[in-house]
Amino acid sequence: MFKKLAIGAAFAIALIPAASNAAGGGEQHIEDFHFSFEGPFGTWDQNQLQRGLQIYTEVCAACHGLRYVPLRDLEALGYSEEEVIAYSAENFEVFDPEEDDFRPATPVDHFPVNDGVGAPDLSLMAKARAGFHGPYGLGINQLVKGMGGPEYIASLLDGYTGEEKEEAGTVLYENTAFPGGWISMAPPLSEDQVEFADGHPATVEAMSEDIAAFLMWTAEPKMMERKYSGFVGVVFLTLLSVLLYLVNKRLWAGVKGKKEH
Ligand code: HEC
Repeated sequence: MFKKLAIGAAFAIALIPAASNAAGGGEQHIEDFHFSFEGPFGTWDQNQLQRGLQIYTEVCAACHGLRYVPLRDLEALGYSEEEVIAYSAENFEVFDPEEDDFRPATPVDHFPVNDGVGAPDLSLMAKARAGFHGPYGLGINQLVKGMGGPEYIASLLDGYTGEEKEEAGTVLYENTAFPGGWISMAPPLSEDQVEFADGHPATVEAMSEDIAAFLMWTAEPKMMERKYSGFVGVVFLTLLSVLLYLVNKRLWAGVKGKKEH
């Protein structure tokens, strides 16, 4: 009986990789980047977030909106109120129904909505995608590496092979991170496309990481506060466990003591 089960299990395990390989098609490759905000004590790298904002503004904003992000939140990236006012007015316009016209954006507005070319809004993209699914689609990798939203975005931007094809009038670009392997977004980044004030290199890989970190921030701006409350919670529960253990010991001391005699 047991022998039969064991053979059955071994057979099933041998079959799984074969089946998943067959279903895989174009193999999806997600690089496990090491972001500064990972782990229980990770924090934002403010310079990186500022570079990410610059990449978004100069490159991605042409097609993608960030409709859920209020411009005033940019103060969290280390900008002064005046700088946010100037940035908003210089870069974005919003439609004002009272004036029935467009006016320069102010910090109380959100980043604009942009769905003109069918590009998805990026506000929550870092939490809407998972980078790690395996092994065998069980998602166990996510316990170790995290959900991988920002890793997916960085791998996507850095994952173009240079191949393209036309299908039903649409040009598709081969990409090693995109499910299915072909995406309709042309490679948005190229080397030295953006010049950073902090002199950081502007390779495609470095910029992909920066914009991915920035999009993690837009998706979860309060991540550090969340981690801090979690930490306080764990400390509190540890203390509580110690106290309860001691109370338990004292309460039963009389009863247990008697037994020994
Ligand atoms: C010329 C327009 C254009 C620009 C510029 C552009 N994108 Fe896109 N993007 C698109 C389109 C169109 C899609 C939808 C592609 C599809 O589903 O095949 C897309 C899809 C995406 C997706 C979603 C992929 C998915 O899993 O569904 C991400 C993430 C993304 N873009 C990030 C960026 C970032 C970051 C930048 C700036 C560095 C950028 N894009 C610049 C047009 C653009």
